[in-house]
Amino acid sequence: MNNFDFHNPTHILFGKGRIADLDARVPADAKVLILYGGGSAERTGVLAQVRAALTGRKLIEFGGIEPNPRFATALKAVELIRDNGITFLLAVGGGSVIDATKFIAAAVRHDGDPWEILTSQGAVVADAMPFGTVLTLPATGSEMNPGSVITNAEKGAKLAFLSPHCYPAFSILDPEVTYSLPPRQISNGVADAFVHVIEQYLTYPVAAPVQDGFAETLLRTLIDLGPKALATPQDYDTRAALMWTATQALNGLIGAGVPQDWSSHMIGHEITALNDTDHARTLAVVLPALMNDQREAKRAKLLQYARNVWDIREGSEEERIDAAIAATRGFFESLGIKTRLGDYAVGTPEIDIIVSALSDHGLTALGEHRSIAPSDARRILEAAL
Ligand code: NZQ
Ligand code: ZN
Repeated sequence: MNNFDFHNPTHILFGKGRIADLDARVPADAKVLILYGGGSAERTGVLAQVRAALTGRKLIEFGGIEPNPRFATALKAVELIRDNGITFLLAVGGGSVIDATKFIAAAVRHDGDPWEILTSQGAVVADAMPFGTVLTLPATGSEMNPGSVITNAEKGAKLAFLSPHCYPAFSILDPEVTYSLPPRQISNGVADAFVHVIEQYLTYPVAAPVQDGFAETLLRTLIDLGPKALATPQDYDTRAALMWTATQALNGLIGAGVPQDWSSHMIGHEITALNDTDHARTLAVVLPALMNDQREAKRAKLLQYARNVWDIREGSEEERIDAAIAATRGFFESLGIKTRLGDYAVGTPEIDIIVSALSDHGLTALGEHRSIAPSDARRILEAAL
């Protein structure tokens, strides 16, 4: 096992009716900015619950944060915070609203150009305004991690940053607020969480049986819960388990002490920057092609994955690996997620753009061995056409 530090300071408040607990978590004298997305939180009554819980505090609201949140929108919130003496931020939404809030929290306390926060991958972040979250979409794990992904439409860039200052102080996870999610977002969430686990698991063995075993449990749980969450949207036990699984998939625990890949994410972000394809769908396209392409580097873990996640025990090594890749693709397709680039209007000319964007963004040595150069990404993308 590799050396590691693990410290996750986010306080989780999980279960039915927990939004009422905001009153105890947000300082009584706080001047709060509530941040939300395109209106689902208003329509579903989540914002009404939030306002009721925070009665007595000064509240200002900032709506309109987009899926794949935009840099320019976040800067408007920074201005609002400075103009109104806001002291606490509350994100109400999915990964996009939470990611935007993290960026805003860091940008408010940053003296230089806010774009540096992203180009430095968070290295310049020295402080951030405190914030909490009310999660409405199980998917990204953003509610319990220090990462954020922001899109700059003018620059055609979707970049990630991480900072230890950007863990939420608390996150409220009420599974009942996920009942209103459209099937497309449930499918996306299951696929995104699945690939988060894979990026931290499907590398090479380092004698880390706890991390591997936990990762395999999360993967099997997602395979089991995905279809149930779609078939019975108001089943509390299914939604509760899904919500906690997605959080555990990317809160640092399974990734501690093991090599990590993240190349499907980095290549996927460039697809979204190009044409706004849903994040999870880009992963469902890239991952099967990448698994096949990297079968030598990932051989031992692919065989372990085949056996422990899909119960594939028969056949030669190549046959078992082929079967595991086919099962992965079949799982995404069973969720209604297409797995070919052509399904998302990406052809050969677009691959050129994606590959040069990887170079432009310095993403030239991806994967657990830092061995996936843009030319390798091109081969993987061509296999995904
Ligand atoms: O905008 P509103 O109206 O709120 O609607 C949203 C949005 O259209 C809707 N929605 C959310 N909760 C709902 C709901 N609709 C009905 N009922 C509810 N309870 O769902 C749509 C998608 O929301 P979004 O927040 O964009 O989805 P998700 O949570 O999948 O977040 C995706 C973003 O997170 C980034 C992605 O790149 C993408 O930008 N990621 C962040 C990560 C992180 N911080 O650790 C890791 C991930 O790998 C990912 O890159
Ligand atoms: Zn993701």
